[in-house]
Amino acid sequence: MKPIRIALTKGRLEKSTVELFEKLGYNCDEIHNKGRKLILSVGDGKFEVVLAKAADVITYVEHGVCDLGVVGKDTILENGTSFYELLDLGFGRCRFALACKKDFDFYHGYGAKTIATKYPNVTRRFFEGKNMDVRVIKIEGSVELAPLVGLADGIVDIVETGSTLKANNLEVKEYVTDISARLIANTASLKLRKNEIEELVKKMEEAIK
Ligand code: PRP
Repeated sequence: MKPIRIALTKGRLEKSTVELFEKLGYNCDEIHNKGRKLILSVGDGKFEVVLAKAADVITYVEHGVCDLGVVGKDTILENGTSFYELLDLGFGRCRFALACKKDFDFYHGYGAKTIATKYPNVTRRFFEGKNMDVRVIKIEGSVELAPLVGLADGIVDIVETGSTLKANNLEVKEYVTDISARLIANTASLKLRKNEIEELVKKMEEAIK
């Protein structure tokens, strides 16, 4: 039987995802010793794992070259939904928040505010919901820098421990939504490999209870 191919988000979610697979009894030695290898065998050949950047996990699953993916809800909210979201995995918990400098009254005045973010779609939707006109500037990382150097009035970003905001004299003005890691599936794979995927989902549900 062809292995089920799973795209995993490397970095922040990687450790918890591997821990989950190990809890289910699947051997993850190839991931631990991956070096520069990109396609890894997990569970002694039951799964083929690809480690990718979050947005690419969605691309691989949407195109059907990976059957399943593990990715943060933040990336899902930003990057489309042509796939099934099967399970909230419960780890990678954090929140989207609107933050700005401590002494700044964000909602004061009528002029359109400028927001820096890695998540322009999430940001636009959030302010559309408030009927507020904002200017959105896309930033690739360390978004907290933008209000400090005067590029933006505020940021919409992920807050996990809050320590990045605190260290830079910024504070949360409003929470946007909760985030955690999700198991996603390609729509065709879900039909073609229904039993195997259902078996894995069931096992995961039990493990994360
Ligand atoms: C994320 C996020 C914040 C930080 C929040 O960035 O964009 O900067 O983590 O975490 P905290 O509340 O625990 O401080 P990440 O470290 O993923 O990298 P980046 O800044 O390069 O995007």
